[in-house]
Amino acid sequence: MSAQPLKLAIIIGSVREGRFGPVVANWIAEQVDDRFDVDIIDLAEAELPAALPPVPPALDPDMPRPAGMSDLTERLAAADAYLVVTPDYNRSYPAALKSAIDWHYTQWDAKTIGFVGYSGASGGLLAIEHLRQVFNELNAHTVRNYVSFPRYYLLFDESGRLREPAEFEEAARAMLDQVHWWASALVTARSAQVAA
Ligand SMILES: Cc1cc2nc3c(=O)[nH]c(=O)nc-3n(C[C@H](O)[C@H](O)[C@H](O)COP(=O)(O)O)c2cc1C
Repeated sequence: MSAQPLKLAIIIGSVREGRFGPVVANWIAEQVDDRFDVDIIDLAEAELPAALPPVPPALDPDMPRPAGMSDLTERLAAADAYLVVTPDYNRSYPAALKSAIDWHYTQWDAKTIGFVGYSGASGGLLAIEHLRQVFNELNAHTVRNYVSFPRYYLLFDESGRLREPAEFEEAARAMLDQVHWWASALVTARSAQVAA
């Protein structure tokens, strides 16, 4: 009997008009095999105010959130693991992504996270390294392997297909194997904790 697929949320971290993020998110979604059920979360569809509530999420994990955030909150909570799709913005990650992270707390707890980065020469790696620190504070586990597209505009053609996909497909497979391993372990660990 095969195991139940894990719920994998792919988060599009950029929200600006004309962004490239959805192309990368769709590509990584195509790489995901039947070990996962995929939910693509577009932060551009969520209400994400910069001003947070007075009490920090660590002290009030069920803090009141804007009505336009409830769909995002439910989908983050439902996920067993996440793939964060991020560009480098000034050597870090987009503000909308930080906002989505900070408005939530328990949703990230003991979950597994993989990364797909893209940008100019740095290929999203500067954003990814910052995100590792942030998710560490939220008790999430970030996997070692990642996919990076440096100078993505040379790697994808006009229709959004990779010109030479093999290297990137292999990187995605390695990352997804790690995400599956850790997410399976953490799902079991979380359910044991609930049962205890
Ligand atoms: C505010 C901003 C800052 C950026 N900073 C960097 C950077 O530090 N390094 C880099 O390689 N590219 C940088 N870029 C270029 C982006 O990686 C590129 O525009 C990419 O398409 C952004 O992702 P998006 O299209 O999904 O928004 C920056 C772009 C923006 C809009």
